[in-house]
Amino acid sequence: MEKILVIGAAGQLGSELTKSLADQFGAEQVIATDLNESARSKFDFCRFQVLDVMNKEGLRNLVKEEKITQIYHLAAVLSAVGEKKPLFAWELNMDSLLHVLELAKEFNLNKVYWPSSIAVFGPNTPKINTPQYCVKEPNTVYGISKQAGERWCEYYFQKYNVDVRSLRYPGLIGYKSLPGGGTTDYAVDIYHKALAGEKFDCFLREDSSLPMMYMPDAIKSTLDLMNAPRQAVKIRSSYNLAAMNFTPAEIYQSILKYIPDFKIEYHPDFRQAIADSWPDSIDDSCARKDWGWKHDYDLDAMTQDILENLPNFKF
Ligand code: SER
Repeated sequence: MEKILVIGAAGQLGSELTKSLADQFGAEQVIATDLNESARSKFDFCRFQVLDVMNKEGLRNLVKEEKITQIYHLAAVLSAVGEKKPLFAWELNMDSLLHVLELAKEFNLNKVYWPSSIAVFGPNTPKINTPQYCVKEPNTVYGISKQAGERWCEYYFQKYNVDVRSLRYPGLIGYKSLPGGGTTDYAVDIYHKALAGEKFDCFLREDSSLPMMYMPDAIKSTLDLMNAPRQAVKIRSSYNLAAMNFTPAEIYQSILKYIPDFKIEYHPDFRQAIADSWPDSIDDSCARKDWGWKHDYDLDAMTQDILENLPNFKF
């Protein structure tokens, strides 16, 4: 029987993925962990434990005592915060991944999941339909750590047979957690402001296109990849993944259909340079071919779903 450890469970992805894992494997088989005790209240549907992923011994003891068979390692410092604290971001993002990969090797874990990002791409990457294999040269600390992490994942797969799987997520948009220091998080915040009847002050230019994905698609892609047969997972660095691309002006127009007096102003800041270094759109044909990836949500379907559900959601 599988025993799943989720690291960084209270973050944007973990808040929703952990529930799906508990549904799939059973409440007692999933242990959600987070740095903060205050996160406990989010996990009444599975087990919860405080864990600092930088505490290698603490992590090792937990994996050993609980006989963990799979780790979802979701803890990371995102792009905008990473630029403010570069060395901290590097240390946390890299050391934590190496702790997890070492444990996977030592305890012969069945599977590891680790998210990568469009941030692995940089200014010299082809911007339109960015291919799986191309020049990367990321210029944010977050992106450098994700690219290095991808190389480590492939290394542990090839050298030690660790079954590690990964996706290069586009900007993820969900309403069940608050913006968490990412460049794409403007597209989370904008719905909160629209529903609060406030003007939205956008930190990107109106024509700044980025690849994006609604959270139900992100959850589906993650579970599809993790449930795929081992031989189907041909890429062991990280898969390109896509659903939609839009600009701030386009998401604003989508919201206006429901909230016609919503106002926006554009005041680009340091995050514009980060967005400019990332692709406009992604070619994810390898994911579609290898394990049957298919997205459900476009921009308007996402807007409708968020505007309907966010007002009733309790943080
Ligand atoms: N959403 C992330 C960020 O903006 C990118 O993976 O930092």
